[in-house]
Amino acid sequence: MTESTSTKTFPLHDALAGRRSPRAYSPSATLTPEQVGPLFEAARWAASSSNSQPWSFVVGFRGDEVFSTILGTLASGNAVWAEHASALVANIARTHTDEGKALSHAWYDLGQAVAHLSVQATVEGILVHQMGGFDSEALGNALGLDDHHRVVTVMTLGLQGDVADLPENLQEREKAPRVRKPLGDLVSGSANYA
Ligand SMILES: Cc1cc2nc3c(=O)[nH]c(=O)nc-3n(C[C@H](O)[C@H](O)[C@H](O)COP(=O)(O)O)c2cc1C
Repeated sequence: MTESTSTKTFPLHDALAGRRSPRAYSPSATLTPEQVGPLFEAARWAASSSNSQPWSFVVGFRGDEVFSTILGTLASGNAVWAEHASALVANIARTHTDEGKALSHAWYDLGQAVAHLSVQATVEGILVHQMGGFDSEALGNALGLDDHHRVVTVMTLGLQGDVADLPENLQEREKAPRVRKPLGDLVSGSANYA
């Protein structure tokens, strides 16, 4: 069973309710380091295991070399729309300390930092779409990462474009209702929302 956001059980803050992962980016919109700064500031203040902050981000703006490098590692189904975004970002987890000790919560912590970032982005009017569909090994090599770091996801940053400019199959996905499992399926114990 699924539930659309229009029938959610409890009201959400606008910064959460307004977040979504779009594919229709404006190919003429640009973003600057100043404009995306608040997003990375939000990531910086996320919680992490032992305050290890095992995250880092490599940012490319459309037209520059970093953007082309990241774009070149995307699965073709992602590249077709992501190429129009204003920025592409590699989201990197530090998986081990310098001494080789595993940071076992690193992926969790990075995900939490990106969640913070995506909420701040919604406040700033910037759209974020995270992707797992890319070649992590190729991108890690291209960025010169050592084996204590891994690109876990990449993401687009940009402004809303025209849905009609997307390939037809993606237009359908863009217009489809956003759905979620019911709250009662996620929560149990002494809180029961079934
Ligand atoms: C780790 C992760 C990997 C994802 N990979 C892709 C991807 O490769 N391509 C894509 O179009 N969307 C990708 N997404 C976006 C999800 O499909 C999207 O978040 C989900 O459908 C819910 O939609 P919403 O973000 O609009 O609420 C990914 C999201 C996450 C968090």
